[in-house]
Amino acid sequence: MYILGISAYYHDSAASLVKNGDIVVAVQEERFSRKKHDSRFPINAIRYTLKSQNIDLRDIEMIVYYEKPLLTFERLLETYLAVAPRGLRSFIAAMQVWLKEKLFLKSELNRKFKSLQKELVPNTKPHIPKFLFSEHHLSHAAAAYYPSPFDESVILCMDGVGEWATTSTWVGRKNEINPLWEISFPHSLGLLYSAFTYYCGFKVNSGEYKLMGLAPYGEPKYTKLIKDNLIDIKEDGTFKLDISYFKYHRGFRMTSRKFHKLFGRLSRKGETELSQFHMDIAASIQAVTEEVVLKLARSLREETGVKNLCLAGGVALNCVANGVLLRENIFDNIWIQPASGDAGSSLGGALIGWHQYHQKERTPNPNDSMKGTYLGPEFNNDEVIKYLKKINAPFHTQNDQDLFDQLADELDKGHVIGWFNGPMEFGPRSLGARSIIGDPRNQKMQSTMNLKIKYRESFRPFAPSVLEEDVSNQFEMSVKSPYMLLVAPVKEELCKKMTYEQEKLFGIEKLNIPRSSLPAITHVDYSARVQTVNKTTNPRYYELINAFKGKTGCPAIVNTSFNVRGEPIVCTPQDAYRCFMRTEMDILVLQNQVLYKREQPKVEKDETWMQEFELD
Ligand SMILES: [Fe+2]
Repeated sequence: MYILGISAYYHDSAASLVKNGDIVVAVQEERFSRKKHDSRFPINAIRYTLKSQNIDLRDIEMIVYYEKPLLTFERLLETYLAVAPRGLRSFIAAMQVWLKEKLFLKSELNRKFKSLQKELVPNTKPHIPKFLFSEHHLSHAAAAYYPSPFDESVILCMDGVGEWATTSTWVGRKNEINPLWEISFPHSLGLLYSAFTYYCGFKVNSGEYKLMGLAPYGEPKYTKLIKDNLIDIKEDGTFKLDISYFKYHRGFRMTSRKFHKLFGRLSRKGETELSQFHMDIAASIQAVTEEVVLKLARSLREETGVKNLCLAGGVALNCVANGVLLRENIFDNIWIQPASGDAGSSLGGALIGWHQYHQKERTPNPNDSMKGTYLGPEFNNDEVIKYLKKINAPFHTQNDQDLFDQLADELDKGHVIGWFNGPMEFGPRSLGARSIIGDPRNQKMQSTMNLKIKYRESFRPFAPSVLEEDVSNQFEMSVKSPYMLLVAPVKEELCKKMTYEQEKLFGIEKLNIPRSSLPAITHVDYSARVQTVNKTTNPRYYELINAFKGKTGCPAIVNTSFNVRGEPIVCTPQDAYRCFMRTEMDILVLQNQVLYKREQPKVEKDETWMQEFELD
């Protein structure tokens, strides 16, 4: 029995397919459309999920949409009525979208699926599976609990907002998920963090990561000001915002004049200089977020006595807060859904269809059921070779062992490699399927990768992929972190103390001073965003790092997403080749094919590789 889950129309549309309870495919629309955070109906993602299993809509038992649009509509109406006539312009803008596609979602979905089925199987009677509409936070909770390794767990979901809920708590037992309590809009930890993201000049819904990366440069000087004015945090972690400081409920902007007055300046315009003020603001809101998360976790542990915790919702991507939560040992075990934003809710929806609607038993997998989150499209050697021959790109085919030895050498020489391996990752992080890799010991790696490959000057260091069994030799952490969602301190003996003068340096200058024997992945506060690599989950990536360890003694490599600034992560060999040719990457590896930049033809306009190809 196949169940299809979809999330769409807000941000990060996605489709996920579950077969008899097993997660078989999950993919975001942006990877096909090449439009970052694409929120349109995920037609390409759905097409791919069906094609990958060789099925059409007649084989789908049920389609689950990840939320209840009418409840969201009710929130919009009620919120507008509470502040009217203020917020009229944003209300009208929202209504235009609602009247066009969201309000009559069921018939809209019906129409879309009918035409898809017509396209897939022409000349047959259209068969549309039944629709189920889950709830936004229930979908988050399901995406966190069902694939987790636990048979009983507390589930904490925190995001901007769903229908009404912004924070929700649940207990999962066997195949059931039951609600505990929730906090409703407009009181939202996700929106509070996004308001500060906006205030510091970053994009809401994607720049939160940058704000988190900025925090270690600052001092949490404004924590008290935030807590005295913006957010009232109770002992149990529940909270209330003073909504007069915000505008997200009644306008296009996130923060109000009162907010700007409180901090004594207007919001930063994107791309203008970041000052110490912004770094202190980032550190302060990070500290407040951690306080709320810790308090919520403590009260949930006390209230339920359950020893496992699952996290989901956009706030669960705050890997610094996750790391703090881990080190506090409030719960015995923590598991975080790698696609914890709304894309992952498509998966949550599909799993609700299986476990709740169909009441199917659940057997937790001791590792988890996400298959390393390698749930997207994959291309075998034959397909890669066919493509490379088509565009006349010179390449060398190598067997695995020679390839890994060769790549270990190239990494050691300081070369930057595009690594394309197996099924693509589901969720926002590259985890060794579509990654750009380098040597973390190399002092220049941070600026080389940023300026020559990613075309940005980032204040964020890169993240390490480390062999699972070596994690505690390199970092103050002894648990697995397969999805790069935990930040941990770099092992003290690997760290280098800063001189007084070096500590006084500003911003990126500070990052350029090596702080450890792994400078490319060590942040200014000696922390790193760790991914542990498991031998069975991603064997080829594991063997590659192991070969690097064999050559250099270092069990970690730099891993950054395979894309350039502003683009989604590459999906196909063609996306990867384009990215390779448009950047100063030295080597591209497509499964077992190695391409050297020096051997590639010079880039001319209208090169064949720039044209679209239909890949089989
Ligand atoms: Fe959400």
